[in-house]
Amino acid sequence: MDNKTVYLNGDYLPLDEAKISVMDRGFLFGDGIYEVIPSYSGKLFHFSEHMERLENSLSSIRLTNPHDRAQWLEILTPLLDANLDQYIYLQITRGVGPKRDHAFPKGIIPTVFAMSSTIVPFADLGSGAKALSVDDSRWELCNVKATTLLANILLRQQAVEKDCAEAILVKDGYVTEGAASNIFAVIDGILITPPKGHEILPGITRDVILELAEQNNIPYSEDIISLDALKTASEIWLTSSTREIIPVIQLDNNMISNGKPGPIWQTMNQLFQTYKKSQP
Ligand code: PDD
Repeated sequence: MDNKTVYLNGDYLPLDEAKISVMDRGFLFGDGIYEVIPSYSGKLFHFSEHMERLENSLSSIRLTNPHDRAQWLEILTPLLDANLDQYIYLQITRGVGPKRDHAFPKGIIPTVFAMSSTIVPFADLGSGAKALSVDDSRWELCNVKATTLLANILLRQQAVEKDCAEAILVKDGYVTEGAASNIFAVIDGILITPPKGHEILPGITRDVILELAEQNNIPYSEDIISLDALKTASEIWLTSSTREIIPVIQLDNNMISNGKPGPIWQTMNQLFQTYKKSQP
């Protein structure tokens, strides 16, 4: 195990010395939230947007933010390496209770954990990835970045066991997102992604792509996509902070277009790569 330095409750310490109590509600109940923030050459990407989402996740689970944005920046900065592209994993749980009780204990202190990892470029970026459509069996709070990810991991695993990089989740005949990504499709020449709401995580990468589409006159819309419509798409992409923009070249047993990453993906990926390097 790489024994790098991590942050836990006010201390920086080697990973193998970072320990939490078995009474932590994150461990017992998955009672916590998290963020994944990319950092390019030591600079956190869209930090304010990630902080805004963190604040929304915390207030959704009725947890007081233990730090303001300036304090978060101060906590996370020592974990970054200016020579690497990395992502910060930041997790906040409700903390350690006196006993296992579903109701919130009074007066407990949240547990805060953060670590950085190197971003490993997605292996099949050039050739594209396969995806599997599955029923979205999750709950009504998909807009909250909760650590409670059992449904997501079971769905991703189903995809992996079919040699697919991601599961595309379908609720009542409409596509929501991937197990750990947002979805975009090009249908009749228009780039479409499902609108924000409680059925999807409001992805930061998703918002950057929409901004880049706007600035570069790529026609786009935030609209619902049925699974039937998705099957007619000329391009499908999956987006996230860790994998960026993955072109999907096969959905279930159907090839997308000619089975190669499409031209709009080529353009958008180029725009995204340039944009992320140009961040102040
Ligand atoms: N997941 N939807 C879900 C369900 C996700 O888990 C993620 C990211 C996204 C994309 O959000 P963003 O562009 O802000 O990374 C959408 C992270 C990477 C994870 O769980 O590791």
